[in-house]
Amino acid sequence: MRGNPTTPSRLPACHPDRAGAAHDGVMTTNETVDDLSLPGESVVAMAGDWHADSRWCGQVIPFIARKVPGVRTILHAGDFGFWPPLRGKSFLGTVDYWSARANISRVLVTPGNHEQWANLNAEFAKNPNQIVQMSEVVWVMPRGFRFTLAGRSFMSFGGGASLDFQDRVPEVSWFYDEMASDAEVDQAIAGGPVDVLLTHETIDGGTPLVERIIGANPMGWNATELAYSAVSRRRITRLYEAVKPEVLVHGHIHVKDETVTATGTRIYSLACDWEQGNAASFDLESGAWQWLGDPRRR
Ligand SMILES: [Fe+2]
Repeated sequence: MRGNPTTPSRLPACHPDRAGAAHDGVMTTNETVDDLSLPGESVVAMAGDWHADSRWCGQVIPFIARKVPGVRTILHAGDFGFWPPLRGKSFLGTVDYWSARANISRVLVTPGNHEQWANLNAEFAKNPNQIVQMSEVVWVMPRGFRFTLAGRSFMSFGGGASLDFQDRVPEVSWFYDEMASDAEVDQAIAGGPVDVLLTHETIDGGTPLVERIIGANPMGWNATELAYSAVSRRRITRLYEAVKPEVLVHGHIHVKDETVTATGTRIYSLACDWEQGNAASFDLESGAWQWLGDPRRR
């Protein structure tokens, strides 16, 4: 499916052995910058790591609409839940249902690691460098996809390393292409600086809590798993340092945290489903960020 997310149809309108090598196919774009602004839109919501959890979507989407009057766009930081062979269209249908009730026009997704990358890349290959419509409101962005909202420039650069890859089945429940290649990073960098960088993976030197978790290794990941993750993080760090965003938004670590770096970049780590800090608002004019709290508390 393809189309234009400014005119949604319901409106008027790695394996560690490969971690050091570039992929054969480069699924990135930096050639066009699409203006995805909706008329009058001045604020968007941020969320991440829903993991195809329909029950959570039934809470967080209405909550976002209540807390951010007039919001029509959710930018999602990955581990959204693109698992068509496992869950069919049901999760996408759930997101469509709750979005329609909340007057959310679109959910623009930066894919995470826990997505069915074989299917995503097949979709991206049909229309290279294009955002892809997956359902009534859900769109997914290829690595390096650049767009603007209300004059502010964004880049989406998805993927990440599954630390539990050794417990998963290659190309069934874990996909080599979950991790960006160096070639994809190079191509994304070539497009120059960006105001807001949307990733799933975190960076080296991120927020304090994220750094503490990575350093403490509370889940006891082994050396191979940690090395695999480090390669992924290093690549995203290289991208981040090159495109010099004012704001970096990521998921993956499943914790709410934020920091301002020495160079003035604001970094926000979104928590996952069923955690406080899973959603925030972002003012497109002022750049102000506001955490939205916990949907379960009235
Ligand atoms: Fe996740």
